[in-house]
Amino acid sequence: MMNFNGTPQQLFWQGSPRDIVFDDDSIKEKLLQTDKACYVLKDFNGRIGVSNTGNLVSEGRGLQVLAMTPPMTASQLGDPTFCNDYKLKYAYKTGAMANGIASAELVVAIGQANLLGSYGAAGQVPAKIKESIDKIQAQLPHQTYAVNLIHSPAEEALESLAVDLFLSKGVTVVEASAFLALTENIVYYRVAGLSRDENQNIVVGNRVIAKVSRKEVALPFMNAAPEEFVQSLLAKGKITPLQAELAKQVPMADDITVEADSGGHTDNRPLVALLPIIIQLRDEMQEQNAFATKIRIGAAGGISTPASALAAFMMGAAYVVTGSVNQACVEAGTSEYVRKLLQTVESTDVMAAPASDMFEMGVELQVVKRGTLFGPRAKKLYAYYMTYKSIDEIPKAEREALEQKVFKQPLEEVWQSCIAFFQERDPEQIERAKDNPHRKMALIFRWYLGLSSNWANAGTPDRVLDYQIWCGPSMGAFNDWVKGSYLENYEERKVADVAEQIMKGAAYLYRIQSLKMQGVGFSREVMSQNSILTSVRSDLNSDGTPDTSLLSIV
Ligand SMILES: Cc1cc2nc3c(=O)[nH]c(=O)nc-3n(C[C@H](O)[C@H](O)[C@H](O)COP(=O)(O)O)c2cc1C
Repeated sequence: MMNFNGTPQQLFWQGSPRDIVFDDDSIKEKLLQTDKACYVLKDFNGRIGVSNTGNLVSEGRGLQVLAMTPPMTASQLGDPTFCNDYKLKYAYKTGAMANGIASAELVVAIGQANLLGSYGAAGQVPAKIKESIDKIQAQLPHQTYAVNLIHSPAEEALESLAVDLFLSKGVTVVEASAFLALTENIVYYRVAGLSRDENQNIVVGNRVIAKVSRKEVALPFMNAAPEEFVQSLLAKGKITPLQAELAKQVPMADDITVEADSGGHTDNRPLVALLPIIIQLRDEMQEQNAFATKIRIGAAGGISTPASALAAFMMGAAYVVTGSVNQACVEAGTSEYVRKLLQTVESTDVMAAPASDMFEMGVELQVVKRGTLFGPRAKKLYAYYMTYKSIDEIPKAEREALEQKVFKQPLEEVWQSCIAFFQERDPEQIERAKDNPHRKMALIFRWYLGLSSNWANAGTPDRVLDYQIWCGPSMGAFNDWVKGSYLENYEERKVADVAEQIMKGAAYLYRIQSLKMQGVGFSREVMSQNSILTSVRSDLNSDGTPDTSLLSIV
C-alpha cells in the first residue's frame, strides 16, 4: 500500500476509475510499464492509487494528482549519441576481460542483443586474437563490437602487433586500457582511421573508448594526438599528410570510461567521487579544445545492479560498463568451477593482490579471496621480492615451503620454464634478467602470477587453491540482488539477459525514486530492486519461447 507525504500537484486527473489500481501487485505492474506515464492519485474515498492512462487538467473536475512521472524507458538512460554512434539498444557496454574471459562468444551474445561487448584480448597471442576477431566479425556482420587494446609496457611488441592486427582486420572500436601515457601505437590506430567525407566533414573511422581511473591518464585522451607521434608516423609513411592534419582536430578518444573500484586492475576509487571529477575535467578540456564532438564519459566499477546503474546515469554517465558480473555468465571464457564459485561470492570476499603484468611496479588488482589462497600467496611473493634481491637470499626453510606449496617444483626449474616461455614470445626479457638476479626473481614470481589465472580459466583440478580470479565487490552486490530469482543459479546467467535486467530495473527504479522524492511512500515489495526481477529470462516469453523482439532493434 502507498502513502503520501509531499505537496500535491496543481493538476487533476480525468479517466476511467477502472484504470486506477490500489494493491501492490497491480501498482508494480503499472510502474513496470516504463514507456507510459504514471500518475499517483487520490480518489474520492481518500485512497491512494496509480494509473498510467487518462488526461491531466489544471482546472475543473477530476481526481487530485499527488505525484507523476513521465515515460522513461531503459533505452533513454545515458547519452543517446552513444547508442546512435554504436548502433545500440541501451547505453550499456561489457568491459574487456583478459585472457579471453570476455570471449568471442560473450561479445557475440552481447552484440546480438544490440549491446556493446569488448573482447578480452589482453594476455592473448596475436593468432588467438585474430581467430576471435574472425569469429566475432562472422557472427556480428551489422552490429558493433570492440576489442581491448591493452598497454603493455613490459612487452611493447605485443601492443604494436595488436594495432597492426586491428588495422588489417578492420576493427573499428578499441577499448584502450592501462595506458599511463599515450604511445605511438595507439596514436597510429586512431589517426590511421581519419578521413574526410564528400562534404568535407571529418570521419573518425577508428573509435577509441579509453578506460581511466585518474585525471592525469584521462587528460591525454581528451586532447588531440601528440604532434611528435603524428610526425613520426608521417615520416614512417604509416599515415597520410591529410590524416596528420585531421589529427589536430579530433581528440584521442571518443569515449572515456571512468573505472572505479572494480575487478582486475583498479585504483579502488569510489565511483561517486571519481566520475564527477572526470566529467568536470572533460568539460574544461572541451571548452579549451572546442572539438566538434564532445567526448562522452561512461562509468565502470561496482555496476551490477539496477540501483548502481541508475546511480551512474544520474551522476551524468553517458553509458555504463559491467565487468565482474559477466565473468559469472555462461558465455565467459572461464571454467565452470569459477562461475559456480562466483555465485557464492559476497561483496566482502575480494582483496587486492599483486598484478602479474606490473608486478615490479607494485601494481595490484582485485581478486576473489573466497575458496582460493591466491591473494595471500601472491602478496607473500611480493613481500619476498621487496625484502630480497635474489631467490638465493630467501631463507632455506621458506624457500622450501614456497617450492613445495606454491610452485610445486624447485625455483630453478620454474626459471627454465620462464626461459622457454620468453624465448618464443619476447627473448629480451630473459636477456635483461641474465645479470640481474632481482629481475630473475620477478620473472619467476610472475610465472606463478601469470599461470594462476590460466589455472582458474581452465579449471585445473590440482590448482584450485591457486586460482586467481579477478573480481570486484559488484559480484557480491549482484548475488544479493538476484537471490531467490532464476538468476541465483549460475547456469542461468547470460550476459545479454543480465544486461537487460539491470537496465530495465534501472528504468523502473528511476520512476520509483522520482515518485519517492515527490512524497510517495511504497511498500518494500514495490520499492526494492529485488522485486523487479521477473521470474523468467528476459529473452524468453512467459511461455518459455524465445522473445525475438530483442533481436531486431537496429
Ligand atoms: C575477470 C576480469 C578481467 C578483466 N580484464 C580486463 C582487461 O583485460 N582489460 C580491461 O580493460 N579491463 C579488464 N577488466 C575490467 C573490466 O573490463 C571492467 O571495466 C570492470 O570489471 C568493471 O568493474 P566491475 O568489475 O565492478 O564490474 C577485467 C575485469 C574482470 C572482472
